[in-house]
Amino acid sequence: MSQHESERIGIIGGTGLESLEGLTITEEKAVSTPWGIPSSSLAEGHLAGIPVVFLARHGSPHRIPPHQVNYRANLWALQEARVKRVIGVNAVGGIHPDMGPSTLVVPDQILDYTWGRGHTMFEGKLAETTHIDFTWPYSASLRSVLITAVEQAGLSCVPEGTYAATQGPRLETAAEITRLERDGADLVGMTGMPEAALAAELGMDYASLSLVVNWAAGKTEEAITLDDIRAVLDGGMADVRAVLERAIPR
Ligand code: HPA
Repeated sequence: MSQHESERIGIIGGTGLESLEGLTITEEKAVSTPWGIPSSSLAEGHLAGIPVVFLARHGSPHRIPPHQVNYRANLWALQEARVKRVIGVNAVGGIHPDMGPSTLVVPDQILDYTWGRGHTMFEGKLAETTHIDFTWPYSASLRSVLITAVEQAGLSCVPEGTYAATQGPRLETAAEITRLERDGADLVGMTGMPEAALAAELGMDYASLSLVVNWAAGKTEEAITLDDIRAVLDGGMADVRAVLERAIPR
């Protein structure tokens, strides 16, 4: 077994990335875990020649809302598939003035406003309590792989930022965004947590490639429409794919 066969990279595709063009699928595996069934089957294969396992966070087709994603099953399934490093792709709203629609961001911090989600692997009958260190929620080395891949794809990104994870599925009020901004948030999305924390609990490296698809609520005069978001998603996910093809550590 080559080194690459024993260490595979996991990609969790979000809204707009339900499948990965360019991924040569060798096996499509429907699995179950102690936490239940993951959002989709695991598509195992090769992207630009490197072993990859792809999972569609919202199912394929897109049907599971952010608050009902079984994040624990998703991360567990990836680990069982011998994945050590996970790239989560997230569509987000932009709060910081530099993070308007179509901007790629590789965040380095998280604020968690989600609730009621299965957010830890450490519950049930435990031999001891565990508190993971989560000071830096994203892997520095995987973030730098992503930032380099963005450059190699001839694109640009904002190489840091604070991702605020909200509960959804509704978008925020203008006042909520003002509060998030006061708290230090640059981006807002609904799926960044508990995904990052669960990866950390499992000892996996995790980073997010975030695509801004709209200005967050109250940042423009106009209402946020799904049509506008879709238009940005189409072009933006082509950029995300170009980055992912170059983001596979060799
Ligand atoms: N808020 C929360 N989640 C999002 C947004 C937003 O504006 N856009 C895309 N995901």
